Amino acid sequence: MRGARRRREAGMVPTVSADVKLSSGGYDSPLMQVDLHESWRIGDVEIPSRLVLAPMAGVSVQAFRRQGRRFGAGLVCSEMVSCAGLSHHNERTLGYLRIAADEHPLAVQIFGAEPALMAEAARMVGDAGADIVDINFGCPVRKVTKTGAGAHCLEEPARACAIVEAVANATSLPVSVKMRRGLPNGSRTCLEIGPQLVDAGAASLTLHPRSAKQMYTGEADHSLTAELVELVDVPVIASGDIPSRARAQTVLATTGAAAVMVGRAAQGNPWALSEIMGEDGEPSREEVVAELVLFMRETVRELGEHRATGFLKKFYGWYLGRGRFPKPFKQELVQLKTLDEVEQRLFAAAPGARFVLERLEDELPQGDEVLLDLPISIYGGG
Ligand SMILES: Cc1cc2nc3c(=O)[nH]c(=O)nc-3n(C[C@H](O)[C@H](O)[C@H](O)COP(=O)(O)O)c2cc1C
Repeated sequence: MRGARRRREAGMVPTVSADVKLSSGGYDSPLMQVDLHESWRIGDVEIPSRLVLAPMAGVSVQAFRRQGRRFGAGLVCSEMVSCAGLSHHNERTLGYLRIAADEHPLAVQIFGAEPALMAEAARMVGDAGADIVDINFGCPVRKVTKTGAGAHCLEEPARACAIVEAVANATSLPVSVKMRRGLPNGSRTCLEIGPQLVDAGAASLTLHPRSAKQMYTGEADHSLTAELVELVDVPVIASGDIPSRARAQTVLATTGAAAVMVGRAAQGNPWALSEIMGEDGEPSREEVVAELVLFMRETVRELGEHRATGFLKKFYGWYLGRGRFPKPFKQELVQLKTLDEVEQRLFAAAPGARFVLERLEDELPQGDEVLLDLPISIYGGG
């Protein structure tokens, strides 16, 4: 049953134009032509494009996910949510289960080391209205791995499989797993454990092919992604160092992955997503300011003014950098006391942004926005 043809027929790998060589090499060749607008599936969930917005702790708030959907991501993900926190009904953790009507399809990611607690968390994620339950076997942060969760699970395949099995039995939603290549540098553990996770019930695997030890140094080695694709019968998502359309097309064509996942390149830069989807052109200053102000307003609604004020500071540099505004401008914004002052200063720098923002707000879907009316408060690393 395994084989490239069968996977292609099942929509698990994208259509690539005939003259593209599937062997690696020739990275970012302009000859590569992959249709990122093709839909595909994880279990019975249809995903309208081959671009996935990465889960990022301290970043993946609703505003980020909704923006990602508007700019072309076919699937968006919550940041990692602690199954222990959910089990204790910790108000802050429950806040991560707020889901807006225009986020779907959405994967909510959970982490933990105990199969029973992870199963309970998966049921809560299902009740909250998520489309996919994602399991984190990739977090390299010591605070998480020392509890046996995150990337540590890659070292304990029996436990990892028990977690996947318990979660898959607890929910009718498709279960996906996101992992690193392994713990030590050069590890190939993902290739051993990947097929076992699928046998245990994973309907999709996302691979960020760096070791946990590497954190974010070095490069994601997508030759491992290609090897993983050959070993499993479920769609594989490629994560890591995919900031552009050329790179996305090359990774899709040379690995056979079903989709690419984009994280850091989309921070304060949703235009990276639309570029990957085939739209050219840098945003104007007015567009940048309008998106930032919209992001600020939505984040205040989600986190409350106090939390949002601190949370948003890192986003100013992300939005206004890349040569879009002079560097001191960001410093000026960070020092302002209220978000209202920040807004006024932004509009003074790009007056036309008010009209762009009005149009954006008019176009946003209205109504049934939040299923669980709870505050979100904590943001861990990941
Ligand atoms: C600030 C930050 C937070 C992250 N948090 C998570 C997380 O909660 N769960 C997860 O699976 N991966 C997390 N990641 C990893 C990303 O999802 C992604 O795999 C990684 O950044 C590589 O992709 P990129 O090169 O496109 O950023 C995080 C990454 C960053 C930079």
